[in-house]
Amino acid sequence: MPDPLPSAPGFERALVATMRRECARAMRCDFTQREAAIPRPPAGCQLYVHVPFCESLCPFCSFHRVQFRPEKAQAYFEALRREIRMYYDRGYCFTDVYVGGGTPTVLPYELAKTLRLVRSLWPIRWVSVETNPNHLTPAAIGILEDTGVNRLSVGVQSFDDALLKEMGRQQAYGSGEQIRQRLAAARGHFQTLNVDMIFNFPNQSIESLQRDIAAIHALEIDQVSFYPLMTAASAERCIRKRLGSVDPARRYAYYQQVLSGMRPAYQPSSAWCFSRIGPRETPRPIDEYIVQSGDYVGVGSGAFSYLGGALYSTTFSLRQYRELIGAGHPALTQCKVLTRRQRMRYDFLVGLFGLSLPYTYIEAKYGAEFWWRMAPELAAMRLIGATRHDADAIRLTDRGMYCWMLMMAEFFTEVDRLRTAMRLHIRDELQAPLPQSVREPTAVWGPGRFHSARLFHRTS
Ligand SMILES: C[S@@+](CC[C@H](N)C(=O)[O-])C[C@H]1O[C@@H](n2cnc3c(N)ncnc32)[C@H](O)[C@@H]1O
Ligand code: SF4
Repeated sequence: MPDPLPSAPGFERALVATMRRECARAMRCDFTQREAAIPRPPAGCQLYVHVPFCESLCPFCSFHRVQFRPEKAQAYFEALRREIRMYYDRGYCFTDVYVGGGTPTVLPYELAKTLRLVRSLWPIRWVSVETNPNHLTPAAIGILEDTGVNRLSVGVQSFDDALLKEMGRQQAYGSGEQIRQRLAAARGHFQTLNVDMIFNFPNQSIESLQRDIAAIHALEIDQVSFYPLMTAASAERCIRKRLGSVDPARRYAYYQQVLSGMRPAYQPSSAWCFSRIGPRETPRPIDEYIVQSGDYVGVGSGAFSYLGGALYSTTFSLRQYRELIGAGHPALTQCKVLTRRQRMRYDFLVGLFGLSLPYTYIEAKYGAEFWWRMAPELAAMRLIGATRHDADAIRLTDRGMYCWMLMMAEFFTEVDRLRTAMRLHIRDELQAPLPQSVREPTAVWGPGRFHSARLFHRTS
């Protein structure tokens, strides 16, 4: 059967347009705009901790991130710990924690203290932390290991110096060769070492992408998240100015290169995450933690939660965040209850992004209603060969992986639109001038700090 995707660009346009419309509808900023109380705890859920500080802000990134300032970050971590305790007092029980950003490792001793608190409150299995290559020093690796981090995700994007330079990351986070050396040194210290890569940068040739893939194989990295370059409206101008114009027509060819280049040593864990084949006792968590947990709680400024079919957001203002938490209030400021159909679509999208949707999961959550309500989506995806209905689950085909990659990118772009709208209210905070003293990251990662951070003991 001929592949309909590359030969039918109309199909891709239609899919993206439909997804954009549907996501926009579901994610529309019609939050109730009222301060929300912490909802009742569900049976099981995951904890996401957002740390929005970065030493250098990348032009393509539309996540909630702000310029790092040590004193602000210190106060922020203190507020985080208070917020985490609120969920404990409310009866929540978490088994996994994911710390993302921004750059969670900007203040390693504060991160360690926060993770020690989380691990003392709940029986945590997986501790995932995001970081940047300049933090992969022996000292930092020691701190993270001592704190019980068993999955470390490092933002690499590319090993190509020309690309790193134009995105400002070579100067801030190291050259391709430095990154390779640091990753080699970090390997084996964590149960899972993940690297984040991006494909389809405007000036990225297919040969450059092939060299990136070869570097990953040579380093024998455990897991790779290979994102398509997403152009949220807020970052579009900056991307065009600094990196050039993104060509969506190349996306399919680049994605095929990723798929064929990663296999067979790596197998997909989601439509854009690849895990190295090897003996593993349990499935590893992936960057898109929302795939593996129905419900999750996000703490920190600008964090989303999904609980019992409702989406929540905490305040994007770091000032308001500190004030709310300081006064003993939860930081949840927005809430939107999804309709039953929106919930089904969310589960369909997110579940299949993780490659399979078990019938038992669907039946338990929605019963037979799922099949007739979702009939158009189910039929369309099956018809174009994106999904396969096996005896126990709906599964994605390779063709489906490309569709889901596109749809997930649309989903995240829509989330970015929401972030942009929220960040508009805090323009004064985001534009505050930066003191010269904070431009020197090694001050934080120097040996003195390392020793103080190492004073924290393991909790298990
Ligand atoms: C938000 S960052 C946080 C962790 C860390 N600061 C870093 O740079 O990796 C996590 C990852 O998101 C991905 N990312 C950010 N903006 C993106 C975009 N516009 N398109 C695709 N991926 C993006 C990058 O691969 C990045 O490594
Ligand atoms: S990609 Fe990472 S380091 Fe760059 S701005 Fe985004 S969160 Fe910060």
